[in-house]
Amino acid sequence: MALAFGNLKTAALRTRQLATLTRFISTSSSNTMASATEAKESAGASKKAPLMKTFEIYRWCPDRPTEKPTLEKFQVDLNACGPMVLDALIKIKNEQDPSLTFRRSCREGICGSCAMNIEGGNTLACICKINRDVSKPVKIYPLPHMYIIKDLVPDMTHFYKQYKSIEPYLKQVKGPEPGHENLQSIEDRKKLDGLYECILCACCSTSCPSYWWNQEEYLGPAILLQSYRWMADSRDQFGPQRREQLQNKMSLYRCHTIMNCSKTCPKGLQPGEAIAKIKLLMATE
Ligand code: SF4
Ligand code: SF4
Ligand code: FES
Repeated sequence: MALAFGNLKTAALRTRQLATLTRFISTSSSNTMASATEAKESAGASKKAPLMKTFEIYRWCPDRPTEKPTLEKFQVDLNACGPMVLDALIKIKNEQDPSLTFRRSCREGICGSCAMNIEGGNTLACICKINRDVSKPVKIYPLPHMYIIKDLVPDMTHFYKQYKSIEPYLKQVKGPEPGHENLQSIEDRKKLDGLYECILCACCSTSCPSYWWNQEEYLGPAILLQSYRWMADSRDQFGPQRREQLQNKMSLYRCHTIMNCSKTCPKGLQPGEAIAKIKLLMATE
């Protein structure tokens, strides 16, 4: 009898649990359906009317070397596009013209690949917001005064050659004892702030009039900032030799403190100031 009563109790419990489960499943599935419908409806309601913006983009193709560069117009719906200029370029390439050529990689201002001239200023396309005023087009050119490989892609060969020439790495006559770290005090480490963040995008150098006219010999603000980065490093033992290399009319002294470089740097660095510090060191040693 006790056993039968126990069985009865268990059966009733199972029935109750099953009913609860069925109710939960049906409620949750109807909730899911309701929320999907609501999401659909609200997406429909919030779908904005197209906001068409014109992008005028520099085009030149090495396969047609006799043809002059042109500015080509593209229309982009800003309400169906990400907020940055790089988003628009990717959208144009994906949907309108796959031959449009530009560099990009990180899409967050870290790699320096997407440097170009947007609305008259050198900057990184991935962190440059599109101006939503559709009455004016956005004009996009490659970095100024550079040889162009195709469309928005400049030839960086000379820039990197100049970078290599300053030996951008730690140089020591005598390093730490084997098994010991190359230590630096907190104060000395702080001296590298504002220098180590440079991503070598070349926005500054290609905005510098002195670099435009004397690119072959003048190192330009980006490379000079990098050079100072090693001079300012307490662990580097080749500061005087690094400065000796700049002791000529062209490598450093073509800087006339016009400061376009510091104004344009998309990372907020001050290459003009770094150049002034090198000049000061050279004048006082
Ligand atoms: S200093 Fe600024 S603009 Fe110049 S290369 Fe470095 S990050 Fe680019
Ligand atoms: S401060 Fe010097 S490096 Fe910077 S833009 Fe002017 S001339 Fe060029
Ligand atoms: S894509 Fe890397 S800095 Fe713009």
